[in-house]
Amino acid sequence: MSSSAPIGVFDSGLGGISVAREIRSAMPNEHILYFGDSANAPYGIKTPDEVKKLSFSIVENFVKNGVKAVVIACNTATSAAVKDLREYYNIPIIGMEPALKLACDLGCGKSQRVIVAATPLTLRERKFADLLNRFACEHTIFSQPCPDLVRIVEDGKLNDCDFVNCALHKYFDSYDLHSIDSVVLGCTHFIFYRDYFRDFLPSNVKIVDGNAGTIHHLQEILSSLDALAPKSEEGSVTISNSDTSKRISELAQSLFFAK
Ligand code: DGL
Repeated sequence: MSSSAPIGVFDSGLGGISVAREIRSAMPNEHILYFGDSANAPYGIKTPDEVKKLSFSIVENFVKNGVKAVVIACNTATSAAVKDLREYYNIPIIGMEPALKLACDLGCGKSQRVIVAATPLTLRERKFADLLNRFACEHTIFSQPCPDLVRIVEDGKLNDCDFVNCALHKYFDSYDLHSIDSVVLGCTHFIFYRDYFRDFLPSNVKIVDGNAGTIHHLQEILSSLDALAPKSEEGSVTISNSDTSKRISELAQSLFFAK
């Protein structure tokens, strides 16, 4: 496999663009093929088998396009499919999981109170139960499904402050937020809400996500295989989507270039 081959990055829709743009900025020599499956989003309320089937079909297409690695820029698809994808395909497949370890480590040994915001499927799956088991004896962890936050991004309503704040109140008003140490954004769509969360949460509550860790992991894996693109290479990003409407393509572009 040539080190100049592209990296396939996919999500159920537009959330993974938050990952693609961070790969682009950290690894400017790489060619990125981004695929969003907005026609089938959201994945978070589907069954694991449905998500697995959709994920296999996306990775199959990436492989046909000669990718050297795949990043599943979706916690939900990772929960449902990463194990089987790794068994089936002979290329590195990097998944994502809610950055609970990072949140707990921020306490430097002190017990933490952490809310993990993610999709219903991510929070229901075995992978998350295993993660929870590793940290729940020392820390207090609350699992909060937030499916509407996915829909708002896909519907292009992210700039509608009242609408977004209404959703945040719906999901977080039952917590004593002053007693919380951090909130984990355990879905790539939620990264786009960082500023909303910052305004909504008390200032002592930290906001944690797994994007940087995922990209670091991708770099390490490619480097260990001597598969990083040459420094002389001018990288590129190609964004495509199963929803081929102008609305989705414009939304994808604006999210990619959003601050
Ligand atoms: N962006 C996805 C994640 O990280 C899933 C959103 C969805 O389709 O429900 O989990």
